[in-house]
Amino acid sequence: MRPRLSVNVDHIATLRQARRGSEPDPVAAAILAEVAGASGIIVHLREDRRHIQDRDLRLLKEVVKTQLNLEMAATDEMVKIALEVLPDVATLVPERRQELTTEGGLDVAGQEERLARVVRVLIEGGIRVSLFIDPSPEQVKTSKRTGAPFVEIHTGRYAEAQTEAERQKALLKIMEAARLARDLGLRVGAGHGLTYQNVIPVAAIPEVEELNIGHSIVGRASLVGMDRAVREMRDLIRGAR
Ligand code: PXP
Repeated sequence: MRPRLSVNVDHIATLRQARRGSEPDPVAAAILAEVAGASGIIVHLREDRRHIQDRDLRLLKEVVKTQLNLEMAATDEMVKIALEVLPDVATLVPERRQELTTEGGLDVAGQEERLARVVRVLIEGGIRVSLFIDPSPEQVKTSKRTGAPFVEIHTGRYAEAQTEAERQKALLKIMEAARLARDLGLRVGAGHGLTYQNVIPVAAIPEVEELNIGHSIVGRASLVGMDRAVREMRDLIRGAR
């Protein structure tokens, strides 16, 4: 089965927030991405509301026809919002105020009990839960123990590798983590730092069901339009298997 492409529209909101105005609207971007063939829409409602706003999330819940995935920190505030809005999926991510983007995966192993509690509350609320983790066997095994049905493997180290040897090593780790996750009965996605140049080897990993891509697609969309940017990425992913 080919992996699905879900598009993260956070950085449409980043552009809007540069002027604290109303344009461009991430809700419009999400609709265009779906028309172009995206299988899902992702937003990260950060504690500091630097890009996506509460209003965006609530409107997206109304208009997204495919699958709405809310990336969120495992905090009381975000759990409350998730249970009110009820996105299809909630992806638990680590969040540090100073970071430019989500720099690493969740340390599931270091906070297993707390995360297991949040996972249970969200699942009981009717939301599918995914954990965003680094490609390490320990994180995969602990994720399974939390009761989350999905993991999303952080591809940042692969994307940022400076040499071919480093890149291959990082890719191998992603492949091994994906295989272990599937062997344990988890469903697998991947994302972070994926671009038109580096997506194919990750899209070719048989266990990966979904790719979550934001910055690169939004960057290209600012030059060629959302429709073309999504179609080009979708075609690359389709051609990988
Ligand atoms: N997946 C997760 C969990 C993320 O936090 C992000 C970044 O918001 C992405 C995927 C997409 O990363 P990028 O914008 O680098 O494509």
